[in-house]
Amino acid sequence: MNAERRFPEGFLWGCATAAHHVEGGNHNCDWWEFEKRGGILTGDSADPACDQYRRFREDFALLRRLHNNAHRLSVEWSRIEPSAGEFDPAQMEHYRQVLLELRDQGMAPMVTLHHFTSPTWFAKGGGWAASGAHEAWLPFVRRVAEELGDLVAFWCTLNEPNIYAYQGWLAGEFPPGRRGDIRGFCSVLANMRRGHEAAYGELARLTPAVPVGIAQHKWLMLPANPARRRDRFAAASAQFFMDRWPAGVRWQRVVEAPCDYLGLNHYSGSLVAFSARRVGEGFANRFNPPGLPVSDFDWAVEPRWLRICLEQLRPLGKPVYVTENGIAAIDDGPRVRFLRDVLGQLWLAIQDGVDVRGYFHFSSHDNFEWARGYSMHFGLIGVDLETQERTVKPSGWEYARIAQADALPGEE
Ligand code: BGC
Repeated sequence: MNAERRFPEGFLWGCATAAHHVEGGNHNCDWWEFEKRGGILTGDSADPACDQYRRFREDFALLRRLHNNAHRLSVEWSRIEPSAGEFDPAQMEHYRQVLLELRDQGMAPMVTLHHFTSPTWFAKGGGWAASGAHEAWLPFVRRVAEELGDLVAFWCTLNEPNIYAYQGWLAGEFPPGRRGDIRGFCSVLANMRRGHEAAYGELARLTPAVPVGIAQHKWLMLPANPARRRDRFAAASAQFFMDRWPAGVRWQRVVEAPCDYLGLNHYSGSLVAFSARRVGEGFANRFNPPGLPVSDFDWAVEPRWLRICLEQLRPLGKPVYVTENGIAAIDDGPRVRFLRDVLGQLWLAIQDGVDVRGYFHFSSHDNFEWARGYSMHFGLIGVDLETQERTVKPSGWEYARIAQADALPGEE
């Protein structure tokens, strides 16, 4: 057996959530409206989810027992600013208590300012597709920075603009449920870029000591046959539109936006073959690599892809946090193996010189997985939906052992 694989001093071990995944009772946002319109494919309700709005203290205590020293969460815009320009002091105080609790438990809070949910008033005005959307978001950003900034360890402005715009305006799986709306898709991305840049400036001014980043989703697009030029072209074009947003006349890589650190959300990838018939999909036929295991989401599971994604960030020369990574699996066994393998790949990326400083597993708890409701199990901790009882899964204990040791055991 080889020597153990140690992680750098001060490495952050955490889990990631968004408010709507876990809180419950989130009734003033577009996802609640979407749910009432039948948008959740399983017919599930995001209320009460994990009831974490009330149970956050016990949940954080459990994560601390699992040796987490950081936690990524989002503050819910629709609670804090229930109507345009009106802020609710009681909700701000709630999140103060949440962040204080994390601090008391010894976990560094990474706070996401937009993770897929928007207030109903904002969505009714066209949401992120409307011109001026970024200006409507900024008062919330400022207010949160002013009132909670002293407790925040990292800001994460936006979660996955690319997935958000794709699912809401092209695929119809997220609110507003539009399909094939390419104009809307581009407007959302352009407005989110403006929002991120403005938020970056404001946060740097108001809380200069707190690093600001963005969580960008990297779905790898690989040529089905690397020897075929047409497949290489189809994969490269698919990757181009996955990774970029409009910045004036050009499409800029999201990871080139102003940031103090880079947040990487990575789950999977696809093989891409050129197909002349798939005009609407950019001539790309996407499929899973034959022979690889798949998660319950039917996403290919290949831990080595994380290293590739991390390697691609190295030239940018910034600290990197894996802000989400995990697998949907009702059986926990694959998750235990996945964790060991994927963290081994992360360790290799560090040996290669990528400045990775933390890993946030998605997710702490089995939770409300957007349009898939409770059918997808991403958690290290199971939640009984009837009783709200929590049960740490073997993968949770495995993660705890690795986090406590700051190391992976040597390879057999
Ligand atoms: C999102 C999470 C989501 C996860 C699994 C990411 O795209 O940031 O909110 O639950 O993937 O689908």
